[in-house]
Amino acid sequence: MKYVVANWKMNPTKLLDAERLLSNIEKHLPGGTKKERIIVAAPFLFLHPLAHIANKVSLAAQNVFWEQSGAFTGEISPEMLRHLGLRYVMVGHSERRLHNLEDQKVINRKVDAALAAGLRPILAVGTTKRTVSAATVELRAQLRHVSRISPAKRARLLIAFEPLFAIGSGKPADPDYVAMAAQQIHRIIDVPVLYGGSVDDATAHEYLKQKSVAGVLVGSASLNARIFAAIVRTALKA
Ligand code: PGA
Repeated sequence: MKYVVANWKMNPTKLLDAERLLSNIEKHLPGGTKKERIIVAAPFLFLHPLAHIANKVSLAAQNVFWEQSGAFTGEISPEMLRHLGLRYVMVGHSERRLHNLEDQKVINRKVDAALAAGLRPILAVGTTKRTVSAATVELRAQLRHVSRISPAKRARLLIAFEPLFAIGSGKPADPDYVAMAAQQIHRIIDVPVLYGGSVDDATAHEYLKQKSVAGVLVGSASLNARIFAAIVRTALKA
């Protein structure tokens, strides 16, 4: 199956609502064992309690620090996530680049630290250009570091391709454009490429059917259990 990542962002505000949302998602999913490729990225605070009730999905953090321990007030390390039993962590989301002023150097260090702790980083790469050739210039700059990581470590990496104009806009990027961009990414680094940006249950199949697209990363639509579960069911068939 392909990957489906829910990015809950800074939602919901209550633990009880987070537990309800996860339970509802699982209620709408077909039975069976835990799926490595259905991933819910929840706020840090909720990860521990959610880990106790997650039966069908894997959990992810939305961010991580670049050191494993020490005098870094307010930070969460890759080792901490690993010891919680987590496998995945998102790194470099465009909202963190914007609001937390994370630059490529910081993001590269986070990817390295996550890999060192044995995690699978989901590296988000955002582009602003609407033509594939112009976007490729942006992609090369954001992927230069990871393309040089050793093949053994690189194999654990996932890329989330997220054009900035598509995130939170309600207007997902053209599936052909996404497929071509994913092919360009594969020329730079051969790891699974997910698409993110206003994906919902009506559009997910447009991306999941593309050979070069290994999955979708879903923001606002993932806060609706029924809609998110519908996207997962599409991915299970893809
Ligand atoms: P969206 O968010 O689906 O709400 O556009 C996607 C993302 O930011 O990862």
